[in-house]
Order: sequence, then structure tokens, then C-alpha cells
Amino acid sequence: MSSKLRIMIVDDEMIVRESFLHWFTKQGHVVDSAASGFEALEKIERTPFDLLFVDIKMPGMNGIELLEKVTSEYPDTLVVIITAFGSIETAVKAMKIGASDYLLKPFRPDQLNLVMEKILQQRTMTSEYNYLKGRLEKITRFDNIIGASEPMEAIFQLIPEIAENDASVLITGETGTGKELVAKAIHAKSPRAPYPFIPINCGAIPDSLLESELFGHNKGAFTGATHARKGFLEVVSGGTLFLDEIGEISPKMQIDLLRVLEEKKITRVGSSERIDVDFRLISATRRNLEEHIAGKTFRQDFFYRIKVIEIQIPPLRERKGDIPLLVEHFLEKYSQETTKQVDHVTSDAGTHLMGYDWPGNVRELENAIERAVVLSRRRTLDVRDFAFLMPPETAAPGHRTLLEMEKDHILNTLAEFNWNVTRSAEALGINRVTLHKKIKRYNLKDRE
Ligand SMILES: Nc1ncnc2c1ncn2[C@@H]1O[C@H](COP(=O)(O)OP(=O)(O)OP(=O)(O)O)[C@@H](O)[C@H]1O
Ligand SMILES: [Mg+2]
Repeated sequence: MSSKLRIMIVDDEMIVRESFLHWFTKQGHVVDSAASGFEALEKIERTPFDLLFVDIKMPGMNGIELLEKVTSEYPDTLVVIITAFGSIETAVKAMKIGASDYLLKPFRPDQLNLVMEKILQQRTMTSEYNYLKGRLEKITRFDNIIGASEPMEAIFQLIPEIAENDASVLITGETGTGKELVAKAIHAKSPRAPYPFIPINCGAIPDSLLESELFGHNKGAFTGATHARKGFLEVVSGGTLFLDEIGEISPKMQIDLLRVLEEKKITRVGSSERIDVDFRLISATRRNLEEHIAGKTFRQDFFYRIKVIEIQIPPLRERKGDIPLLVEHFLEKYSQETTKQVDHVTSDAGTHLMGYDWPGNVRELENAIERAVVLSRRRTLDVRDFAFLMPPETAAPGHRTLLEMEKDHILNTLAEFNWNVTRSAEALGINRVTLHKKIKRYNLKDRE
């Protein structure tokens, strides 16, 4: 923070004004003066001041009246009251109203310096506080979605806009990037917030079951249907349906859901009655649905229906700037849960965490912090507490991940075909677009 202030002296005695002007100008501040409370208010209205020195005894509007006006209308302006020695009660009263300090006349330059020092300190503290508060607001803006990186900021800006309208949203991102968190935040900010948010993991439910889960069924609709049951499409009534792993549903289910989205009506399994439904659809997937469309397992018309709006959450390794904030957040969370006071990581440990690739993204980071907090006996976590995270380069040979194997295999194939993408793609049994994406994703380069 710059210590150059905009200061104004308000005193009806010219000699006092002159000496203040001289003194503060010499110190590099921007100084102005006013001979009365009225003149002072006029000047403040035109340009804001950081600090006012105000004499108590002035004709017209006295210093206390001016102080009252300034503290209520310009709370960022600090006021130091100048009062005659012997009228200490007035000074006390001024402090109660909101003066930052007082000077008793006559005073020596070193007393003035002391007051200035205090004022500057106070200002630093205020701006630090505002800074911290601003950060806190940023952090808690959306139900615990932490992030300050550019892509996360963009998502934060998008959420309220998306919440406002009712279009279908598709959230894409690798596992653990926070897709469900974002879906919940959209629901919470939307007019549908008073109604249910129902998450359904399409990948975990077999297709036949999914149908009756979503659409409901009548008594006797199938063996075991001993009584009628409403499906989630009815139960959600007015709220938000979150279909996780939408890429896993069968083409038949895609057609059924497409019809629901178009007609806003359903029929329960084993019934012919059409029932009105009202919900907003948010879907999520870890997969590249365009590839599924190319491979004919995902319908294009359904795809366009569910992704009127698309949010892509980048993997954590592409927004490493969020790691420190996330670490801080999870340390606090798990310290509270375990009632352990673990609130720091050493800078070495921090570097280690920043260097790691996080294939499991934020979920993996959260688990790592939880584990380290639970096992730690110290207040500060160091590198040893994160030894279980192996940086990719030093991962034991023979225990390579599938991704690493894929990367090597692609690289070898490309080398074999002299980096001819078309022929390499053919040999790999994938299409060119996919191969280009993988080349980009793994940052593969021709060594030649
Ligand atoms: N930006 C974030 N801030 C705080 N916590 C986060 C953030 N992103 C993810 N998390 C946490 O990580 C975990 C995984 O998040 P979530 O379930 O939303 O991920 P997902 O993308 O739906 O993963 P999956 O594809 O595996 O279902 C949750 O515990 C969530 O609270
Ligand atoms: Mg999920």
C-alpha cells in the first residue's frame, strides 16, 4: 500500500492551515485545506480524502458536526480532531462518534508524526482486512466451490446466468473435477431451489431398472412390481434432475428421455396415462460424447437436446493455481472434523503437491489431505506426509497406469507411421479427431 495520502486541514485559523500544508507537503502527501466545515464538505464531495484534520472550534459548523457528517457519509475518510488543551472531554466525545485520533493544541511535530504513524497502521490493517474478506467472499461464493484460476472464475460468472434460465446443461470434465458440485450450485441459485435436486448415476443402474426408476411403474407392470411407484421424473416435480454419467445410457433410453424433454410428459411403465412433468435437466459426463456419436452409441439429436449450455471443467493439472486454495480449504475441513490442529503445509510439501499430476483431480487432492491430516501428529504437514503420492516420473516400472500405457502406445504408433495421423489413427482403431485430441492431451511431440 502506498503511504501517500490525500489530506485536508479544516481550521478557521490561516496560520494553522499554512503550517499543516507546509508540513505534509514536505512529507510527500497531497494536501488541501478548508477554512470552514461547509467548504470542507464541498471539497470532499468533489474528491475523496483519506484523512481530515478538523479543528473543533469553528464558526458556522463546528468540528463535531463535520465529524458526524463525514463518518456517516464518507466512512472511508479518517478524521483526526484538533482541540485545545484542557478540553479533553470534547476529544473523548469525538472519539466516540468515530474520530480516529485527536491532537491537543499546541502540539509538537513529533506528536503529529505519532498520530500519522497510527493512522497509517490502521489503514494497512483495514485494507488487509478488506483483502481477506474479499478473498473469503470469493471462496464461499458458491457452496464451497473453491477456485481462483481463470477457468474457475469463468465458471463462477456463468453459474448465476445459467441458473436464471431453464435450458438443459451438460457438464463435462474428468472424474473428481467437481461436476456434481457445479450442478448443485446451479440448482441452488435457480428459481427451482425450493424444489428437489435429484442426482442419478446412470452408470450405476442397469437400463431396465433405470427406466422404472425414472418413469415409475404401475402395479403389476413387471414381476416384482407389487405396487405402483412414482419415478424420479415425477418426484423431482419443479426441481432439478441431475443425470450423472449420461454417456452410459442406452440408445432406447435416450429416445425416451428425448421425448420427455420435448413433450414434458411421461407415462409410467405399464400404464398409458400421460402425466405432466416439470423439471430442469443437468447432465454430466466424463466421456467425450462426440466420439460416442461417431461410434453410434450416442444419438446426436439427444446430444443437442441435453447440451443447450455446456460447462467444461478443466482437470486440476491444468489449473494448478487452485491447489493452494484447495489445500487450505481441505486442511480446515479435516482439522475440524478430526479436531486436530493441522493448519499448514511446509513449502516443500506445497511444491510436491503442485508438482503432482492429480489424475483423480480435486477428489484425489481432498482424499490426500484427509489422509495426511488423520495420520499426522504434527501441526504442519511436510513432504513425508504426502509420500504416498508418487510423481508420475518416479512411479515404479511395471506399475504403469492405463493412461501411461496408452500414451506410450500412441507415441510408438505415431513414430512407426512417421507421424502420419491418418494412418496412425487407422492402426490404433480410432478416428483422426480423437487421435489429435489425444496428441494434444498427452502433449505428444515428434522428436525429429
Ligand atoms: N472446486 C472445488 N472446491 C471444493 N471441493 C471440490 C471442488 N471440486 C471438487 N470438489 C470435491 O471433490 C469431490 C468430487 O467432486 P464431484 O463429485 O462434484 O466430482 P465429479 O466431477 O462429479 O466426479 P465424478 O466424475 O467422479 O462423479 C467432492 O467431495 C467435492 O466436494
Ligand atoms: Mg459425479
